[in-house]
Formats: sequence, structure tokens, C-alpha cells
Amino acid sequence: MGQIIAIINDKGGVAKTTTTMNLGTALWLLGKKVLLVDTDKQCNLTFTLDKTTMGSTDSTLLEWMRDRSIEAPVYERYDGFDFIPSSQNIAQLNTELLTKSGSDLYLTRRLNLLKDRYDYILIDCAPGCDSLLNANSLSAADGVIIPIRTDLYSVVGRGPLMLKIEEIRENLEKDLKVLGVLLTQFDKRTEMGRQVRKYFKDNGEMPIFDVAIRKCEDCNKAPGNQMSVFEYNAECTAAEDYMRLAMLISGEKPNPTKWKPAQWSEKANKAYDEFIKCQIEA
Ligand SMILES: Nc1ncnc2c1ncn2[C@@H]1O[C@H](COP(=O)(O)OP(=O)(O)O)[C@@H](O)[C@H]1O
Ligand SMILES: [Mg+2]
Repeated sequence: MGQIIAIINDKGGVAKTTTTMNLGTALWLLGKKVLLVDTDKQCNLTFTLDKTTMGSTDSTLLEWMRDRSIEAPVYERYDGFDFIPSSQNIAQLNTELLTKSGSDLYLTRRLNLLKDRYDYILIDCAPGCDSLLNANSLSAADGVIIPIRTDLYSVVGRGPLMLKIEEIRENLEKDLKVLGVLLTQFDKRTEMGRQVRKYFKDNGEMPIFDVAIRKCEDCNKAPGNQMSVFEYNAECTAAEDYMRLAMLISGEKPNPTKWKPAQWSEKANKAYDEFIKCQIEA
């Protein structure tokens, strides 16, 4: 059975989507079967994975959440690497589902249909942990990654999310694990960066990943090319950091034969070229 991981923070702009895309690609590079699910009306992940699905299909997470009997809207990015696109109207579910019984379990029931096909299902959440859609993501998840930018507001902003996680644990009597706080856009040369890392390490309130994702301009540039950092520049610091994170999560030891940016780049770019070729032919 696949592990479902929600990538969530109350705040926007903390690298939820960047983490979903790059961690997902890194896990796939390690040979895992991966499904990415976009739940955000901004559709940033959908755009990066396949901008031709943006607004051009009525087979997205929205329609599937409304009607479980339709075919699951699973699209292939690469062999063993799939995604479910979001829709700009997806937030309508926050009101549509409100009066239904088990309104926070819709996504759980949908993903249960797919769970055994994948090693990892990563859910890219929208900002705002109070929404019904995010309650669905947390209810479906086995674990949570909380990307946090190393600034004061991001640190103090984690309170509502922790309360929500606690509420889901209690209501569903499930062991929803915080896999870790992930520091993003991290710069150890800044005092704030060092202080925030120390705070989470000392405080012990929730685990923090040993790896932090360093600030890296290639992270900003890759999505515009419909790429993760592994296709865009596998030598960049973010590629190294996201690969380390993927190894931590999958329990793989750094292996010299797999630990080579040139190999990541070759595998990712070969698949990417095929993906683009198929798009052009279609
Ligand atoms: N490690 C990084 N270094 C530099 N920029 C980054 C990094 N991670 C994310 N970004 C940039 O930060 C912005 C917000 O990231 P995004 O993933 O869209 O956040 P969220 O999904 O939480 O709103 C984007 O412009 C993204 O390119
Ligand atoms: Mg996002």
C-alpha cells in the first residue's frame, strides 16, 4: 500500500508546490511509483506537470470528488510517475461538501481506490488549514510534511495547523504523523535561518528534517519550463537537497551509484523529452 503524504502549511509561498514537484520527482528517480495530487485552485502544480491539462479538461480532481463513479483523473507524466490535476473551481467543494455526511472523507475514499498502485502519493495542499478540502487531504494522509520558510511569521503561523492535525487525530482516531518540518529557501548564512533551525531542533514540539532545502534560483526557473530541478539542472543545490529528503523518506541509504546528478539528469530528461514529444504529437 502506498504512503500518502500531505504537504501542507497554513501559509502560502512556503514551497508546498515546489516540494511536491521536486520530492515527487526525486522519489521517482529512486525507482518509486509516485502519484502527485493537486488540490489547489491556483493549479501551480498542474501547470508545471502538464499545462495542456489547464482548463482544457473536465476530468480533474473536482469532477472526481463530485462523482466517484467516473474514471479516476490520473494522467501520466513519466512511466511510474502520474498526477491528478486540479481545477480553478476546486474550492467550490468547500461549500458543496459541507452538508454531506463524512464530508472530510471524500478524498480518502477516492485515494483508497488507487493506493495500492503507488509507493507514494503526495498531496499538494492549498494555503489555509481550515478549509474542508484540506481537512480531506489531512484525513487521507498517513503523514504530513510542513514546509516552513525561515522567517518569523512562518514560525508563529504553524499554530492553527498543529491544532487541525490534533483535531483530525482525535476525530478519526488515526495516527497522523508529522514526518517533519522542512525548512525551505534556507540560507544558513542568515541569523534568522540559523535561529529558526535551532528553535525547531531545541523545542522538540515536532520533528524537523535533517535536510533543509537551500535557497536556489533554479527552483524558481524550473517550473516555467515544466520541469523539476532534476530536468532543469540536476547539479543545483535544491536537486541535492530534495534527493536527500527523498532518501530520508524512503529509507534509502545514499548509494554512490544512485547519488549522481548526471544520472538523475539523464533519466529525468529522457523521460521529459518523450513526454514533450507525446504532447506535440497529440
Ligand atoms: N529552494 C528555493 N529557492 C528559491 N526559491 C524557491 C525555493 N523553493 C521555492 N521557491 C520559490 O518560492 C515561491 C513559492 O513557492 P511555492 O512552491 O509556489 O509555494 P506554495 O506552494 O507554498 O505557495 C515560488 O516562486 C518558488 O519558485
Ligand atoms: Mg502552491
